[in-house]
Amino acid sequence: MRNFFKKNLKKFPKLFTFLKKYPLRFYRNIKLQELEFPRQIWIENTNHCNASCVMCPRELQTRSKSIMSFDLYEKLIIEISKYPHLVERVHMHNFGEPLLDKKLVERIKLAKDHGIKHVYFVTNASLLNSKNALNLIKSGLDEFKISFYGVNESTYNSTMKDLDFNITLNNVRNFFDLRKSLKATKPKVVLQLIPQSLNDANLEKEWVNLFKEYLDDEIGDRFNFYQLHNFGDGRDYVETMDHNIRNTCKFPWNTMVILQDGSVTACCLDYDGQINLGNVNEQSIYDIWNGEKYKKIRADFKKLNYKDYKPCQKCNFPVD
Ligand SMILES: C[S@@+](CC[C@H](N)C(=O)[O-])C[C@H]1O[C@@H](n2cnc3c(N)ncnc32)[C@H](O)[C@@H]1O
Ligand code: SF4
Ligand code: SF4
Repeated sequence: MRNFFKKNLKKFPKLFTFLKKYPLRFYRNIKLQELEFPRQIWIENTNHCNASCVMCPRELQTRSKSIMSFDLYEKLIIEISKYPHLVERVHMHNFGEPLLDKKLVERIKLAKDHGIKHVYFVTNASLLNSKNALNLIKSGLDEFKISFYGVNESTYNSTMKDLDFNITLNNVRNFFDLRKSLKATKPKVVLQLIPQSLNDANLEKEWVNLFKEYLDDEIGDRFNFYQLHNFGDGRDYVETMDHNIRNTCKFPWNTMVILQDGSVTACCLDYDGQINLGNVNEQSIYDIWNGEKYKKIRADFKKLNYKDYKPCQKCNFPVD
């Protein structure tokens, strides 16, 4: 039904624009729920990375690179643990490679000891060696996603630049073997491919064949086929429509992203931390979430006013 309206309304662009700009936007906005605390919290353990993937705007990052202090991290987990009824999941990564942080396992254990329901991260798996694999399985980690874009050395090494196809493939397969031999039921794994990165639809099956015998349905492992996006204003893969008819971006109603230096931004696409909503070294998560800057971004986004938020201006996430 929704698609029927969309398809037919596009034959009348002025009417489509009008509907999206006023009545539809009004309807969507009244459904947005103001929560006391974010549902999802991303904690950037580090923004260092050992790769230079072609689709990722790593080279545009001007902010300093470091690893979040453990004291700050612990303070965050203690506060988050007070909202078990609201927090659905904590991401232990943001813009960078989480396995570069030697304290990652310790951080996960601390979060699980504090009763955090779902602890998760995304990795390129280049450092998922046997030792890290074993420690992660024992840590209590609930789930992680592996970004693996290629079917051989040439496809993989040219997309995930600076990494090595054979090393990462072995890491991934060894991880599954180890989890099986330990009869562990966690963490579950999402194996992600961006099919566009292969430049050949026939190779998708080859990619699935690399891993399919390793995935365990009972644990909940799965494949995920994703798409290239603009990474805020970092890349140019998707043409963005006239800003006036974009949707309200829902991130400020659900998610908080805390960068390694404690500064808070609206979403994981703000790779350079340009949207500054506060700093957890100075304020609590609760105070920032309920503070003036969050009130302003929600009010601006409801009006589809993205002008004060540079990464949003080319972002294709709110485009319908
Ligand atoms: C920024 S990375 C951080 C985690 C880790 N370094 C990794 O690559 O898995 C998070 C995710 O963004 C994906 N990504 C990077 N650039 C992208 C783009 N332009 N479009 C879609 N996904 C992208 C990565 O492949 C990865 O799955
Ligand atoms: S996608 Fe991940 S691994 Fe690749 S450069 Fe970006 S942060 Fe690093
Ligand atoms: S519009 Fe895009 S860049 Fe801006 S907060 Fe939403 S998802 Fe992030």
